[in-house]
Amino acid sequence: MGPPGAGKGTHAVLLARDLSAPHISTGDMLREAVREGRPLGLKAKEFMDRGALVPDEVVIGLVEERLRKDDAKTGFILDGFPRTVDQAESLDRCLEALKMPLDHVIYFKTTLAMVIRRLSGRRVCGQCGKTYHMTNFRPKKEGVCDACQGSLVQRPDDHEDAIENRLRVYEKQTAPLIEYYGKRKVLAEVDGDLDVDPLRVILKDLFSRKQGQPVRR
Ligand code: AP5
Ligand code: MG
Repeated sequence: MGPPGAGKGTHAVLLARDLSAPHISTGDMLREAVREGRPLGLKAKEFMDRGALVPDEVVIGLVEERLRKDDAKTGFILDGFPRTVDQAESLDRCLEALKMPLDHVIYFKTTLAMVIRRLSGRRVCGQCGKTYHMTNFRPKKEGVCDACQGSLVQRPDDHEDAIENRLRVYEKQTAPLIEYYGKRKVLAEVDGDLDVDPLRVILKDLFSRKQGQPVRR
């Protein structure tokens, strides 16, 4: 969890690699549906481009279907889900049915200045979705994806109006989940302003601990 630009996607990809678990990002799944022109994408795009949340029933159905796939049977990293109390409650029910308790909920706490710097510098591959940053994580060749040679573009929701709206939506609809998970003692707060490498070490350390043990920041 964390506001837009906090580093959720960046660290979810690394953690998924470190833990050999699938990375399940609702934002990536929705963007893929948009790229492929699927009905889901057509429905989601108008919400995403203005920085609003896609309706709960759409996203919940998408995640429940994904969690039932074979590769998620021994664990997974969720990124960008849940984002509302209704989504969190439906996740609880789904995980109960699957007999898979939540181990950790990681909250990337970050400053507004950092969010603006991260989002304004972010570029993504228009073909495969890989994320770069104009100063922090540059591609080998300017404007070209290292992985698939696709062109790098700015996400349609990374312009000023949409960013402002995403931050408002986050505060109103998603931030209450910090208390929701805090009460369950599964919440770990990390400093999202840290550089990627030190934060990666902290997260690996956290995942090597059992639920409820204290976290080193
Ligand atoms: P989503 O794609 O989830 O966007 P978001 O939550 O706004 O978060 P971001 O992806 O913008 O930020 P991030 O925290 O992943 O940052 P990143 O790692 O890329 O959702 C998009 C839209 O889809 C939503 O607005 C909504 O419409 C819809 N949606 C998705 N899920 C939904 C749901 N559950 N319910 C309803 N609607 C949903 O990092 C940002 C930049 O900073 C990158 O360039 C990166 O390289 C750089 N960076 C990251 N960390 C560091 C670091 N530590 N040091 C230096 N640079 C860093
Ligand atoms: Mg992301």
